Amino acid sequence: MTQPAMNMNSFEGKRILALVREGDYAHAGEEEAIERVFRAVPKQAGSWLLDVGCGRGGSAEYLRRHGWGHVEGIDRDVESIEYARATYPEVEFHACDVLDVPRTITRTFDLIYMLNAFYAFERQADALAALRKVAKPGAQLVIFDYTVGAKSSDAPNPMMPGAIRLSEIAATLRDSGWEPAVVEDLSADYARWYATFVERIQLKRAEIEKIGGAESYDFVFSMYSGLHGFIVQGGVGGAIVHARAD
Ligand SMILES: C[S@@+](CC[C@H](N)C(=O)[O-])C[C@H]1O[C@@H](n2cnc3c(N)ncnc32)[C@H](O)[C@@H]1O
Repeated sequence: MTQPAMNMNSFEGKRILALVREGDYAHAGEEEAIERVFRAVPKQAGSWLLDVGCGRGGSAEYLRRHGWGHVEGIDRDVESIEYARATYPEVEFHACDVLDVPRTITRTFDLIYMLNAFYAFERQADALAALRKVAKPGAQLVIFDYTVGAKSSDAPNPMMPGAIRLSEIAATLRDSGWEPAVVEDLSADYARWYATFVERIQLKRAEIEKIGGAESYDFVFSMYSGLHGFIVQGGVGGAIVHARAD
């Protein structure tokens, strides 16, 4: 039987991901990944960070609570932003598309980051140019995301059409006003994180079915087992892409 498609970036999708991940996270590796991404970023009370595609706000709150500075978050999903505002009142959240950030936010930031959000943007180059407008001179940009794997064909992967093509990202960054810096490959971590994630989905079956019924469980299980398989086979990978406002 064909399963109905479910958008994992919808409010219900992120609610299920948060349940499985046991925190308000919809990115691979949860808190271990946040620590990995920010391990070289000094904790400075006076720094301003922007979480782009912040979802339910758990990562923004994690960074604020652990001393990385002031954090603001934006997401186009209004329900997620309402949830984030009610749950994490010490972070300022804005409901807007990434392309509207310069019109919505008046301040500028020392660090702008995305945790599994960039792959979901329809206009990735325009998004980078919009974010450049709210970057302080010399600001850091950090993109934690899926990549087109080393063993992928040239055709866009239907499972992850927005995954970062590492051979093209430096040029895309330069064209939008960012100076590309190092890329850290996390493909082995992604394989491990998704193996654990698929196990957790099975353990949480009853709770997932309570939110979205048996169809949701079947969809989520087959989608993430498939993604794990792609990652293990080298079709999809993961990386942290660093850049600076030049
Ligand atoms: C996989 S979730 C990751 C959420 C969050 N970064 C986290 O780690 O929990 C991707 C998020 O990107 C948001 N998003 C997708 N396209 C967007 C856009 N054009 N502008 C703003 N947010 C967007 C979605 O609403 C979703 O919350």
